[in-house]
Amino acid sequence: MTFYSTIGKNMILPQDVLIQSKETQEIPGAINATIGMATENGKVMKLNSLEYIIKNISSESYLPYSPTPGTLNIRQQWKDKILKENKNLRQEYLSQSIATTGITQGIDIVANLFSEKGDALILPNLFWQNYAQIYNVKLGVSIHTYDQFNNENKYNLEAFKNTLYSIKENKIHILLNFPNNPTGYTPSKEEFKSITEIIENFLVENENKSVILLCDDAYFGLFFEDNNKNSTINCLEKLVNNENCLIIKIDGVTKEYYAWGLRLGFITYYIKDDVLRNEIMAKTQGYIRSSTSSGSTIAQIAIQKLLSENKYILEKETNDNIIKNRYIALKESIEKENLESLTRILPFNSGYFFTIELPKKINAHEFRLMLLEKYKLGIYSMDESNIRIAFSCLEESYIPELVKNIKNCIIDFNNK
Ligand SMILES: Cc1ncc(COP(=O)(O)O)c(C=O)c1O
Repeated sequence: MTFYSTIGKNMILPQDVLIQSKETQEIPGAINATIGMATENGKVMKLNSLEYIIKNISSESYLPYSPTPGTLNIRQQWKDKILKENKNLRQEYLSQSIATTGITQGIDIVANLFSEKGDALILPNLFWQNYAQIYNVKLGVSIHTYDQFNNENKYNLEAFKNTLYSIKENKIHILLNFPNNPTGYTPSKEEFKSITEIIENFLVENENKSVILLCDDAYFGLFFEDNNKNSTINCLEKLVNNENCLIIKIDGVTKEYYAWGLRLGFITYYIKDDVLRNEIMAKTQGYIRSSTSSGSTIAQIAIQKLLSENKYILEKETNDNIIKNRYIALKESIEKENLESLTRILPFNSGYFFTIELPKKINAHEFRLMLLEKYKLGIYSMDESNIRIAFSCLEESYIPELVKNIKNCIIDFNNK
């Protein structure tokens, strides 16, 4: 006898990052670079004006239900924000944004609306594990991966193309997450141009196949190099002209506004056909109605107030720059220590993280434990070979020591 549905049977609670973060917290004085938040002096980074708004919000405004797709104001503000930050987009193709309970829920909603067993999902070889949980464990979609970087440490356009063309399924979901978790990479303008061309050609050559392009923009805005300040939807915009392509942007306040626990994300569709856009908007709201019913009013009202004044802009810039300075310090220390002579560092230029692919003979899980016990540094070992380091929660002053410790730990393993 079983009580479970098929989903219930397949469902697991992945323990890796949770356990690894807990283990780090248990070591006195250990630096925690496992988590996807931004901290400073051991506390979460914040926007002071958001804190002020939340403390002063009236029960009249935050207690009532919000409408299922979110309040009209926040939806319009978010759409305006997207248009302002993505100059290539055509206003008339962009839907109103629909509020969700965080970015994860946004991905889950579109996964449920558009994917099922018999579909394929393309991901890079290293990806945020929740994608597998949503698409594969819950919905039975098959996952096809490509190596994100080639032997020259360049974005692997050929592998992406080969994977796309090798897929037999007729409905293909392509998940593009830049800045990327875990690698911290955002493609250059030229690379985005090639990605667009590859997809465009595929769509034209395979009219019977449909592609759903999902831009997970969780780390949007944290771009640290001039040639990589690229918004995915802005770069891929012209694909909208293909009838067999659906473009969806999922983003939220989680990382962009230093508000991880507010749980406010958005789904915004980019579709040429008015009838189809309206239908999809109605279905999306229907899905929300039957799951969370509506989102958090306090989160929507607070962000609505935040965005309607300019005070937060400077605060956000200050925080963003703190993370950028950590990135710069990392690049300098990596060079100074010549770390790349000992191990492969995957290209990074944005976001919260960077990834190291350890030499073949070092097991990443064992490496993580030694780094934690001997060097008091907690990082995330993703698989047997790769470790992810969240510089979003590292003090800049600690970074030279961090790089030295990673180097020494590799030397320890090499001398074993
Ligand atoms: C790539 C990526 N997408 C989505 C999310 C989830 O965002 P949220 O906390 O808004 O659900 C994360 C958070 O860690 C992430 O790394």
